[in-house]
Amino acid sequence: MIEIAIDGTAASGKGTLAKKLAKKYGFVHLDTGLLYRKVANELIINKKDTSSNLAYHSCEIARNLNLLELNKKELRSEETAKLASFIATYTKLREILNSKQKEFVANNKTKFPGCVLDGRDIGTKILPNADFKFFIDASIDIRAKRRLLEKNISFLHENDEKCMLHSLIIEISERDKLDSSRKTSPLVPANDAHVIDTSFIDAEELLLKVTKIIEGI
Ligand code: DC
Repeated sequence: MIEIAIDGTAASGKGTLAKKLAKKYGFVHLDTGLLYRKVANELIINKKDTSSNLAYHSCEIARNLNLLELNKKELRSEETAKLASFIATYTKLREILNSKQKEFVANNKTKFPGCVLDGRDIGTKILPNADFKFFIDASIDIRAKRRLLEKNISFLHENDEKCMLHSLIIEISERDKLDSSRKTSPLVPANDAHVIDTSFIDAEELLLKVTKIIEGI
């Protein structure tokens, strides 16, 4: 099975790239951020997000997580993302979710010719022997603008838009900082990853660039 590992910062375009690659090659895809988001969302729904036993409750939820029940739409909020990034610092929780991700790959080995996983520690921890590793990044301003566009909000006043963009810049920067500075599996490019800046290229151009690398063109 061909393994493709994609890591990168929030809203860098790594998720769209992973989906497009999986579709192009008929590979199975797992957005690993959804696992952390699902645990965070369950904590919020069950009002355990302010508990002093946050690590314990996170691990309990993670153990019972069903990878077939990850619905991206309901997990999209910045509140969920922020808590996901926070609980992702727990070593025990990462161990549980790492096993789930590795199980996912093992279970699909005979069903698909390849897999694409995207997240923060795929090239360094989950698929250290991946055939292809990519690390995707872009400037903070561009990433915040992309997030804003995804939200598809019609603003009545220009100032409201500016204000929301400013909040997104702060939220994404804080998340980047937490993801890159945690002790266990921080967000860093694997030594053998192709590092790509998407600040000035769109999703199709990124796909073309990555496809050329994979196909050795
Ligand atoms: O990719 P995302 O924005 O949906 O991820 C949400 C959070 O989950 C991210 O801020 C950190 C955490 N995460 C992680 O620690 N390791 C992964 N492989 C994927 C996500």
